[in-house]
Amino acid sequence: MEVVIQTSAQHLATLAADAVAQLLADRPDAVLGLATGSSPLAVYDELARRHATEGLSFARAQAFTLDEYVGLPADHPERYRTVIDRDLVGRVDFVPGAVRGPDGLAADLRAACEQYEAAIAEAGGVDLQILGIGTDGHIAFNEPGSSLASRTRIKTLTAQTRADNARFFGGDVAAVPQHCLTQGLATIVAARHVVLLATGRGKAEAVHQMVEGPISAMWPATVLQLHPHVTVLLDEAAASRLQLADYYRETYAAKPAWQGL
Ligand code: GLP
Repeated sequence: MEVVIQTSAQHLATLAADAVAQLLADRPDAVLGLATGSSPLAVYDELARRHATEGLSFARAQAFTLDEYVGLPADHPERYRTVIDRDLVGRVDFVPGAVRGPDGLAADLRAACEQYEAAIAEAGGVDLQILGIGTDGHIAFNEPGSSLASRTRIKTLTAQTRADNARFFGGDVAAVPQHCLTQGLATIVAARHVVLLATGRGKAEAVHQMVEGPISAMWPATVLQLHPHVTVLLDEAAASRLQLADYYRETYAAKPAWQGL
C-alpha cells in the first residue's frame, strides 16, 4: 500500500482527481468505481469543477457504485443511487445508463447481486475504485466478519454503522435500513487500482488496522493488503495512529516524479 499523508484535505482530493483524470486521458472508456459517503465528496467536487472548466469528460466512461440500502424508495434522498447522482453523476457528462448500482428494490435480491457481478465483469472490471472506510474498518458495506472472498450479496448493517449513518436520516437510527446490498471484498480487490480516502480522528484506528494490522475479517479493509496497487490518502488526524507514519512521509517525499499514484 502507498500511504500519502497531507495536512490539506483539498490536496488529497486533488491527488485523487488527478488519478481519475490521468486514467480518463489514457483510456476515455475507463470503468470507475464510485463510493458514497462524505470521504469522496471533495474529490467529486474537484472532478465536477474540472468537467465544468477544463473539459474533463466522462462521456465514454462507465461506473459502478459499491453498495445500496435495501428497500429505500426510489425517490428517497439517501438512497445511494440518488446520492451518487447528486454528488457526481448529475454534475458531469456520463451518458444515461453508464452508471450502475446494486438494485436494493429488486424482487429477487440474490439474482440482482449475481446480475451486478456479471455487469461488472462484462464491462471488463473496474479500473479505478474510489473508496472510503467505516469507523469499524468496513469498506463498501462489508461489515466485520465479512468473508475476504465475498462477492456482491445482502448484508446486515452493524449497530455502529447504522449509528454512524443516522446523521443522514435526521439522526434517527431506526430510519437507517438494516439491510444492504454490497460489492464483496473479493469484488473490490478485483479493481485494478484502489484509491482510499480517510479523514478525521474517528478513522484513525480503522486506518491503522487496515495498513498495519493483521489481515482479518474483523477489520475488512485489511483485505486491501493483498492488493498490489492501493493508494491510501489520509489527513494528519486519520494518520495519527500509524506506527510508520514518518516512513510513509519520507517515502512519499522521495517518490520519483515519473511514478504517479
Ligand atoms: C458507508 C458507506 C461506505 C463508506 C462509509 C464511510 O458505510 N457504505 O462506502 O466508506 O460509509 O463513510 P464516510 O466517508 O461518510 O465516513
